[in-house]
Amino acid sequence: MLLDVVAATRAVVSPSFAVAVAVKLNSADFQRGGFGVDDARRVIAMLEPLDVDLVELSGGSYESPAMTGRPADTRTRSREAYFLDLARDLVTTSPLPLMLTGGITRRDTADRVLDSGVALIGMGTAPAVTPDLPERRRNGREADRQLRPVAWTDKALASAASMAQVRHQMRRIARGGAPRPGTHPARALLPEQRLQRWALRHYRAWLPTAETSRRLDHDE
Ligand SMILES: Cc1cc2nc3c(=O)[nH]c(=O)nc-3n(C[C@H](O)[C@H](O)[C@H](O)COP(=O)(O)O)c2cc1C
Repeated sequence: MLLDVVAATRAVVSPSFAVAVAVKLNSADFQRGGFGVDDARRVIAMLEPLDVDLVELSGGSYESPAMTGRPADTRTRSREAYFLDLARDLVTTSPLPLMLTGGITRRDTADRVLDSGVALIGMGTAPAVTPDLPERRRNGREADRQLRPVAWTDKALASAASMAQVRHQMRRIARGGAPRPGTHPARALLPEQRLQRWALRHYRAWLPTAETSRRLDHDE
């Protein structure tokens, strides 16, 4: 499916278009017998002939939410740049430029990632909490705020809450407000879940209409 999507995308964009097909690849899902670094290497090799310009590495799954710094396998747990060891491994053989996402906030962490041969870094949480981060970097300043840590023992719930906290900050910024990183995880999670349920209900109601108009277009 991945290869089909990439090939179909490539087919409709101009050859000079820097393929914004940044395929986000799970470097490891931390499940026994699951997707591991060797599988990631094979997928990268399969993507090479398709003219992909960039492969984004991240990792984890909702059962083992390593992307929020909470993998089931504690050996790989690291407070920053969660997947750097995996990226270092892949970068030696990857024929394609790699981007690494996950736990990158501070400048020296970003530099460490780039020094490892990774071409680009990706950041989700950091700019949601510190939207003026690029400006700060230019002035030699760091992000001085962090999201309130989620100390819940249920890893899946804690991961959902961490993501809800980020979404919550993004919504505040979108409304023209300032982030409030100290928001309690439950205060972010509950409204986010309500919003998601609402969006899902609307999507389910819209789906048959979209299908009908697609059929009508096709019949015309
Ligand atoms: C609100 C939110 C939604 C996300 N959705 C996805 C997703 O749909 N697919 C995915 O691969 N990763 C998703 N992620 C994971 C991020 O892409 C990223 O790997 C993760 O946030 C770690 O990077 P960070 O430490 O810079 O935030 C999401 C993260 C957040 C906070």
